[in-house]
Amino acid sequence: MKIRQITAAERVTLSLPIQVYAFESSPVSDGGWEQLSATQRYYESHLSLLAEENGIPVADVSAVPMRQNVRGTVYQMAGVAGLATLPPARRKGYARALVTELLGQMRDAGNVVSALYPFRPSFYQRFGYVGLPRTRTAAFAPSDLAGLLHRELHGDTAWAPISAGYETYREFTLRLVAERHGFAVFPDSRAVQIRDSEDRWLVTARANGEVVGAATYRITGHGGDLVVDDLLTTGPLARALLLQFFARHVDQVARIVVTVGADETPELWATDLAVVIGARTSFPESPAPMARILSLEGIAGMAVGPGFAVVDVVEDPFIAGRYVLDGRTGHLVVHREQNLEPAATLTVPGLAGLIYGVLDPEDVVVRGLGAVSAEAANNLRAMFPRCTPYLFASF
Ligand SMILES: CC(C)(COP(=O)(O)OP(=O)(O)OC[C@H]1O[C@@H](n2cnc3c(N)ncnc32)[C@H](O)[C@@H]1OP(=O)(O)O)[C@@H](O)C(=O)NCCC(=O)NCCS
Repeated sequence: MKIRQITAAERVTLSLPIQVYAFESSPVSDGGWEQLSATQRYYESHLSLLAEENGIPVADVSAVPMRQNVRGTVYQMAGVAGLATLPPARRKGYARALVTELLGQMRDAGNVVSALYPFRPSFYQRFGYVGLPRTRTAAFAPSDLAGLLHRELHGDTAWAPISAGYETYREFTLRLVAERHGFAVFPDSRAVQIRDSEDRWLVTARANGEVVGAATYRITGHGGDLVVDDLLTTGPLARALLLQFFARHVDQVARIVVTVGADETPELWATDLAVVIGARTSFPESPAPMARILSLEGIAGMAVGPGFAVVDVVEDPFIAGRYVLDGRTGHLVVHREQNLEPAATLTVPGLAGLIYGVLDPEDVVVRGLGAVSAEAANNLRAMFPRCTPYLFASF
């Protein structure tokens, strides 16, 4: 088996047949094939690796060049997507070989972090990834927002098809990536796919002349659902402005379903709001995302709490080694260390769980992702306090 990088021009003939078999309803008609081929132009910036068996393509995987905010700093991120092997070649280790090769290339290209949506988390945990929270949906009747309809809010909303409002939407997501922990965005070439899809409306909220909220949505039918994708806001005023807009659909739809980050509390959005909050995680069709660190030196300077720990990072071909993590200045200092004794042994999922703010040092121990002394636990907890990431991009 040979692994090689393919060009954007080769995607349709070499990668697409594998991708379609793995991820689409198939077999595909000629018309359907044409449509799918047309989407490949959005993937031109992806780095795609192909595995060939006797010269025949059997498996492939791609990395999407993205950016992600981790604890306030935006890093170069490799989004791993489209890992697939054709059935005759499965269970021969090709997927594992492709992921290993891709992560090495991504690390060498300067990516500091990586994220993905797993078909099976245990597969990717062995590649250093840790689970991040899944988004929730909040479902409620528009009539429950009646109290908001006549509230005077200092701002307004604008409504357009996403094709017309795309630039505003994109600009707002680029603002959020600089501000929100965990938030990740596509490169321009991939992000425009939503503009061209023509299957979404866009509502934006403005206050004091600037965009403070945005959400794409669609309506399933008269008396049906108004389904909102991510409710993106800078705060409560923006959220109230967007909800007020959705409340105007009271005589049109039966239900509003909104996607929100795991740290949202929709039951507190309004008095008398009867809301069903849900998140279903299942594999492979409805996974929670995962992420890993590809370079510890790469996160030096990150804003952290005061603490100091010598840690052994283990079981990883990319970042294993002994490190000093020093947060006493409020910004992380990282360097490799040979002489000091380690106070904690961390697998990369354990380390990533701390840095992404999703695991406490005690979680790391009980999940079997590391061994941490009591003193190191206090230091790591102080440096990396819990905080809930919101990935936003799905790929
Ligand atoms: C998921 C998928 C990519 C796996 O591809 P694959 O090439 O069969 O994967 P690998 O052979 O590298 O590994 C798969 C599993 O088979 C095991 N395996 C590999 N060779 C084996 C063998 N000879 N006998 C038994 N098991 C074997 C691997 O150990 C691995 O299991 P583990 O994770 O528990 O260790 C493939 O099933 C697929 O295309 N699925 C549909 C698309 C999809 O869901 N993609 C994932 C998107 S995130």
